[in-house]
Amino acid sequence: MSLASLDKQYVWHPFTQMKGAKITPIVRGEGVFLIDEEGKKYIDAVSSWWVKIHGHSNPYIGEVLQRQFNDLDHIIFAGLTHPKAVELANRLTSKLPQEINKVFYSDNGSTANEIALKMALQFWHNQGIEKNRLIAFEGSYHGDTFGGMSVSARSTFSKPFSEHLFETDYIPVPSVENLNSVCESFENMVAGGQVAAFIYEPLVQGVRGMVMHSSEHLNALLCIAKKYNVLCIADEVMTGFGRTGTLFASDQIDAKPDIVTLSKALTAGVMPLAITACTDEIYDGFYSDDRSKAFLHGHSFTGNALACSVACANLDLLESDDVKSDLERLISCQTKFRIELEGNPKVLDARQQGAILAIELKTVETAGYYSELGSRAYEYFLERGIIMRPLGNVLIVMPPYCICEEDLHYVYEQIRSFITDL
Ligand SMILES: Cc1ncc(COP(=O)(O)O)c(C=O)c1O
Repeated sequence: MSLASLDKQYVWHPFTQMKGAKITPIVRGEGVFLIDEEGKKYIDAVSSWWVKIHGHSNPYIGEVLQRQFNDLDHIIFAGLTHPKAVELANRLTSKLPQEINKVFYSDNGSTANEIALKMALQFWHNQGIEKNRLIAFEGSYHGDTFGGMSVSARSTFSKPFSEHLFETDYIPVPSVENLNSVCESFENMVAGGQVAAFIYEPLVQGVRGMVMHSSEHLNALLCIAKKYNVLCIADEVMTGFGRTGTLFASDQIDAKPDIVTLSKALTAGVMPLAITACTDEIYDGFYSDDRSKAFLHGHSFTGNALACSVACANLDLLESDDVKSDLERLISCQTKFRIELEGNPKVLDARQQGAILAIELKTVETAGYYSELGSRAYEYFLERGIIMRPLGNVLIVMPPYCICEEDLHYVYEQIRSFITDL
């Protein structure tokens, strides 16, 4: 039996209606390429769900992983620790906003946010302060666990569970047109003193279709949150590690978060790992002689040593001049292509933040995630050797930073043809 048939028999894929699903078996990864059983190569233009910033099977990461495996692969992280967990926490806190000094480990973005919400709610609870409401942006996406879904926009994805989700208040994403009214309604919501935290994807709402807002506008909201003692949770699961042009999107915003969540590119997409990092003030809210005030949360794979070692290797690479210049080159190519697309009559909006390029196409079909245009585009690019996962009618170009100009121009060329053929 072929790999595809065996897959069909035994495997259930994420975000996929399995009836009629066409699944492509991949047997190798090499730099920006994925290779199927017949040896056909595909450019991974989506960095395998925005994680593979250094491409596939990076040799340096491979060596580090092998060395770590020889020393120590995994230990229970309650009561024990290991060098790479300590090194990673140390290195990350020195790069994250100054006030962020403590790292709590987990293993995926949704869980990192789940932990952030629990941390924020318990922080107030431990002090006997009644603050239990949460605010998020309209159209937000913070994950697929119940807490993550609860603070995300309600959608078809969460509909079957709607009565089990907790209430969240939403504010529109700020823009030049609505800034004053959004600030006003945000202030009204937080002024009552019931709001524990505001969770936001800084600068770019990924799953919504790379909807962007300015750092100044977000800053205005964060200043209001701070004025009313509302904890600010920056969900940097997608924006972290260079994607937005700075190491973290929060680096571009004056007001700093109290909690930051990271995953995806944290290990350059090699191992599952996430962190929820917080200020000393939050940490101190749990530090007590009373054991019930501890943060009683954990997972079997918390602080996995292989994953932590790979995340340290990722930081080594990100600190190198080669990767910095790769990223600069990618950003500059994306900028040129965005400018080229701006006047295109078939393009509703071409937007960019750092290395993220989103091309929203005009469509007479349904816009949004279920747009048929998205499925057609997926097939079109797949046939031409490109893995792209459009978000509905929005094409997303987010390749590994190491992509060379020739491969990137091939992707752009195919996008031009797709748009022309529309
Ligand atoms: C901003 C943001 N938060 C959370 C998540 C969930 O992360 P994970 O898929 O690792 O659970 C995602 C995934 O796309 C994301 O983009």
